[in-house]
Amino acid sequence: MILGENIRLRAIERTDIPRFVRWMNDPEVTQYLLMSSPLSTAMEEKWFDAQLERPPHQGQIFAIEVKVADDWVHIGNSGLHDVNPVNHSAEFGIVIGEKDYWNKGYGTQATRLTLRHGFEHLNLHRIYLEVFVTNPRAMRVYEAAGFTREGVQRQAIFKNGRYIDEIIMSILQSEWMNQKAK
Ligand SMILES: CC(C)(COP(=O)(O)OP(=O)(O)OC[C@H]1O[C@@H](n2cnc3c(N)ncnc32)[C@H](O)[C@@H]1OP(=O)(O)O)[C@@H](O)C(=O)NCCC(=O)NCCS
Repeated sequence: MILGENIRLRAIERTDIPRFVRWMNDPEVTQYLLMSSPLSTAMEEKWFDAQLERPPHQGQIFAIEVKVADDWVHIGNSGLHDVNPVNHSAEFGIVIGEKDYWNKGYGTQATRLTLRHGFEHLNLHRIYLEVFVTNPRAMRVYEAAGFTREGVQRQAIFKNGRYIDEIIMSILQSEWMNQKAK
């Protein structure tokens, strides 16, 4: 368990699958994601089984839970993918599927907790991400967590009938440590 203040990251469970399917079939959520086609429970179960095959230090998806009264509510996932053991790099991803929990600061906190895990436990050197230019909220969250904009992949994504530019951002371990020391 990775603990924050009224927020925590835990390993995903098979019982989470129905929520993943609901979120990944919501166009308001998926407009910001690579996912474009309808997703079935069977497809998501296959994806879940594939996650179990991978040792955690090679990247892991976490369930984001927030404290509401006496309960912990699962609102989304964050994670590190494609861990490269030579470059010590990984790709960051996040989705808050429960839309009532958008814009309450949870995305920023979950991003920071995931970075802390990547830099302070997995000893990563660089964590990067890709974000659509149509998603200023996500970019705001990433900047607040310490990511720097590196460049743009022009018209890299075809989504909802049009091409979209994609921004690459990253944060280095040294930048994370400096930010923490302040
Ligand atoms: C993107 C996402 C993770 C952000 O999480 P969140 O909990 O909603 O974000 P937070 O509340 O922590 O922070 C949002 C910030 O964006 C700002 N913001 C919101 N809408 C904005 C907009 N249209 N333009 C610019 N900034 C915006 C907020 O003011 C806030 O900034 P502040 O803290 O300086 O006030 C979440 O909304 C989400 O999962 N969305 C759908 C999937 C997605 O986009 N995933 C990311 C793919 S790269």
